[in-house]
Amino acid sequence: MKELRFDSQEKWLEALVEKWQEWGSACLGARGTFSVALSGGSSPQAFYEALTKIDWTWDATEMFVGDERRVPPDHPDSNYKMMWEAFHPKRIKLHRWKTEDNDLQAASLDFSKQLTSVLGNPPRFDLILLGIGNDGHTASLFPETAALNETDSFTVVNQVPQLSTTRLTLTYPVIEKARAVWFLSKGEGKQPWIDKMTAGDTDSCPAAQVICQESEPLIFNWN
Ligand code: 6PG
Repeated sequence: MKELRFDSQEKWLEALVEKWQEWGSACLGARGTFSVALSGGSSPQAFYEALTKIDWTWDATEMFVGDERRVPPDHPDSNYKMMWEAFHPKRIKLHRWKTEDNDLQAASLDFSKQLTSVLGNPPRFDLILLGIGNDGHTASLFPETAALNETDSFTVVNQVPQLSTTRLTLTYPVIEKARAVWFLSKGEGKQPWIDKMTAGDTDSCPAAQVICQESEPLIFNWN
């Protein structure tokens, strides 16, 4: 994994937007589409908002919510809600987990079907954006949770006892097949985990366990 460090949010955003334009244009040129799994949490919001300021082919860009909380899509904690509002008013194609029925297994199965119908089987993203939690988690792959051991399913319902909650998440098998993986990190608390990631120290650090077969994962770090 390669860390790219920035000393201001402005430079961090500038680099991310430039990289999106470069990589996204290459994907659109090669296959006529650009498929992206979006990271939740708070760090990526400013990036998503910055993307609404550029001239982009949104109707050929297929975006998916990379992981979701156990809340309806209009709940303040919903990753989908954060993403939809950040990209507003652009007309985007954003595939979400159908959490409104609170049947998470059905939501996970439905999302997996969305993945394979749009991206093929196995689903292969052009880009997966990921965050880094203060406990080394990424997506909703938390330390010592069952999802870390999933080797077949593309999506899972993951019990997260340390948060007394249940999450929905993409799994390592999907992340591994992506053409590119970028981590977005803001703030001091992540540096110890970033250091483990760049050192290849995977112990108790789900973010460090991410593998991308096609290219070296990049860590866009501002602190
Ligand atoms: C979520 C995210 C999660 C997030 C990290 C970092 O649903 O919260 O998928 O993995 O990316 O917790 O969150 P911050 O960007 O808010 O620090």
